[in-house]
Amino acid sequence: MRQYNFNEILEILNKQIENIEFNEKPQSLFEPISYILALGGKRVRPALALMAYNLYKDNLAEVQPIAAAIEIFHNFTLLHDDLMDRADMRRGKDAVHIKWNDNAAILSGDEMLIEAYKELAKTRKDVLSPVLDLFSKTATEVCCGQQYDMEFEKRMDVTVDEYLEMIRLKTAVLLGCALKEGAMIAGASDQDADALYDFGINIGLAFQLKDDLLDVYGDPATFGKKIGGDILCNKKTYLFINALQDEESYKKLTPWLEKTDFAEAEKIKAVTEIYNQLNLKEKSEKLIQEYYKKGVSSLNKVSVGEEQKAELYKFAENLMFRNS
Ligand code: IPE
Ligand code: IPE
Ligand code: MG
Ligand code: MG
Ligand code: MG
Repeated sequence: MRQYNFNEILEILNKQIENIEFNEKPQSLFEPISYILALGGKRVRPALALMAYNLYKDNLAEVQPIAAAIEIFHNFTLLHDDLMDRADMRRGKDAVHIKWNDNAAILSGDEMLIEAYKELAKTRKDVLSPVLDLFSKTATEVCCGQQYDMEFEKRMDVTVDEYLEMIRLKTAVLLGCALKEGAMIAGASDQDADALYDFGINIGLAFQLKDDLLDVYGDPATFGKKIGGDILCNKKTYLFINALQDEESYKKLTPWLEKTDFAEAEKIKAVTEIYNQLNLKEKSEKLIQEYYKKGVSSLNKVSVGEEQKAELYKFAENLMFRNS
């Protein structure tokens, strides 16, 4: 059996996504779709689907519709997410709602969800039903997570457990879904498919924790998003929740949450200083490490040879040390 390395997988995925054809008219509906997909991104989720499949089989064409569907779905959520988060920059470029307008982000986003299902429908008919079920269940969970994320902006009493459940829903389940569907279509055992799902949940939690960390401490040149965006939105990240639990910091933070007229840079600086004083970057890194380790032990349970899993271990490790 042929084992593909990550670079080969990325090349296959990029070629596939580049070749997806959308309707031509109206151009204003489809252009934003091609734009966001061409901006690339890390392709984490479709890569996971292909890598999970490649643990068992090497006919990657079989899993590619699922990979494309998941990547298009992910990009759809980004169009709407940037509207909801008032975020102007995506992958180092103007977000769709900035380059076009809010309605374009809404409607092209909606169309992307439909395009995702069109890709998914190309899956082998004998496995299509369970694949569709998990995909739809996951898509609903992502919406639930996004709803909690928005509601938490207005709350001061969000707990760490509530935060972890929110990021499980908005982010981790899609990584789990990609891995599990890759395994399912390759004919893996239920135990393996479930262990791969758990691997996805654990590295997905670490992935979102890291995203929240980069939102404060990342380098704008590589991160591709505005630094401090979460602070400006009063996002209840692990950092923020921990800061609120410290009495002194709570007092310093509350006025910022009520203010509507302020210099953005000043708020970002003030909140970051509180995080720094409380060593929350380190605390967050520790939790990331914990979930990464849990992910590794889930992957250990998958009953294929260690050398076959090497690419997935390496991929998970690289995700933890990423800067974008
Ligand atoms: C961004 O996802 C949304 C999150 C769940 C953090 P990615 O960080 O995978 O974004 P791209 O696709 O690589 O741009
Ligand atoms: C996004 O979380 C999760 C989804 C898009 C479902 P974030 O809001 O943190 O993602 P970024 O930072 O904008 O990419
Ligand atoms: Mg966002
Ligand atoms: Mg968001
Ligand atoms: Mg983020």
